[in-house]
Amino acid sequence: MKVLIAGGRGRVGSKVADLLESRGVEVVSGGLDDGVDYLEGTGVPEALEGVDTIINVLNTRSFDKDAAVAFFEGTTRTLSAEGARAGVQHHILLSIVGVGQGDASDIGYYLGKVAQEKALAEGPLPYTIVRSTQFHAYIPVLADQHMLDGKVRAPRELIQPVELGELVSLLAEVAITRAPLGELEFAGPERFFMDDLLRGTLAASGDAREVVTVKSFGAVDVMVPRGEYQMGHELYPIRGIPLAD
Ligand SMILES: NC(=O)c1ccc[n+]([C@@H]2O[C@H](COP(=O)([O-])OP(=O)(O)OC[C@H]3O[C@@H](n4cnc5c(N)ncnc54)[C@H](OP(=O)(O)O)[C@@H]3O)[C@@H](O)[C@H]2O)c1
Repeated sequence: MKVLIAGGRGRVGSKVADLLESRGVEVVSGGLDDGVDYLEGTGVPEALEGVDTIINVLNTRSFDKDAAVAFFEGTTRTLSAEGARAGVQHHILLSIVGVGQGDASDIGYYLGKVAQEKALAEGPLPYTIVRSTQFHAYIPVLADQHMLDGKVRAPRELIQPVELGELVSLLAEVAITRAPLGELEFAGPERFFMDDLLRGTLAASGDAREVVTVKSFGAVDVMVPRGEYQMGHELYPIRGIPLAD
């Protein structure tokens, strides 16, 4: 078995690469640092030589709608088309719980992920979309993203974060079992309100920023799965934060 990890030196990709290699799987990393660019199309056929499975954990820093859509759609279309030419049997994509749901329609980055999922589903390869909730390690970043006028403005919305290591194990498992599953969702075992979670997280690290509870704007409760999902077991590392249920 030979796996191309598109974004293999990124936060998620590097951990998936390590885990697969520790299980004896041949892994190729395909990212900008490896001389592979899925937007420009450079180095893609070479990266895909002999590959049977793609794990797509590419990312862009852009939250602008047009840029995010162009990135996620373009890179995924290239991977699928070139993958089909190279004889790939399974394209695994990491996405986010809640994208594509009606009330998440105003988030540019999410629209990029929606376009990415659509490009994958319309493409020629059998696929699995793994939609995960936010990683535990991402919660402090979420606080930074909600800063306005020196305060963290957090809506009282549900969020169900997950431990990255468990998601990495799931991606590796999906690759090793080889069977395309269509779509599946993955979330942690605890559900919080976002304002409580950010308040407790900042307090635990001695961060004095005030967290103000605000009304939801646009998307509501998109950070929790709504249907069936697989559940991780690892609890949020900071204890004592009130649970939502
Ligand atoms: N953060 C969360 O809580 C969360 C939750 C659910 C899902 N996700 C999803 O997880 C995925 C991976 O995130 P991450 O944090 O691991 O991303 P990351 O650390 O930013 O890594 C992104 C990777 O993409 C590569 N890349 C970017 N543009 C490229 C291009 N044009 N051609 C080839 N490679 C390119 C980068 O290559 P270089 O390293 O060479 O620059 C890097 O390896 C994202 O799709 C995100 O939506 C995140």
